[in-house]
Amino acid sequence: MNIVLIGFRGAGKSSLAEILSKKLSMKVISSDDLIEKQENKTVQEIVVENGWKYFREVEASIIEKISDEDESVIDTGGGVVENPLNIDHLRIRGFLVYVSAGLKDIKNRVMHDSTRPKLNPLLNIEDDIVFAFNRRAPMYEEFMDFRVNTSTHSIEECAQQIIKEIEK
Ligand code: S3P
Repeated sequence: MNIVLIGFRGAGKSSLAEILSKKLSMKVISSDDLIEKQENKTVQEIVVENGWKYFREVEASIIEKISDEDESVIDTGGGVVENPLNIDHLRIRGFLVYVSAGLKDIKNRVMHDSTRPKLNPLLNIEDDIVFAFNRRAPMYEEFMDFRVNTSTHSIEECAQQIIKEIEK
């Protein structure tokens, strides 16, 4: 079984993936890292040079590949829920954990990070975050098997909650 972390940018997926991997001796697979390796560009460069549509296509093909893995912690990009096929693939062997956080925390963590390209270039950075957050929150809710909240609990506590749940 894979533990698949889904959730908005800045929710803490990558930090949680590292802790889970250490505690459970499972490897971490980051879809964004694999996309960057395959394209030999950063996410930012891919989006600027090829656009979001291309990024989402590459993301979908990487997600399909990594869904074949087992005993891994899969760290997905925040937009993975935009394509329902991604979720179908990730579900095959995956326990989907929604790494949630309050909008205020997400804003604080993401607003000043220039490595994360805006989803809608027509919006200012704050509206871009709020708009995507409100649109995606119900999707994460719909697809998740389990939720943790990094606004109300530390990353360590979230990791413990996930481990308790999967060991039930
Ligand atoms: C995206 C989130 C990013 C990355 C890309 C698209 C999104 O991943 O995949 O910039 O659509 O929210 P993180 O959630 O790891 O920042």
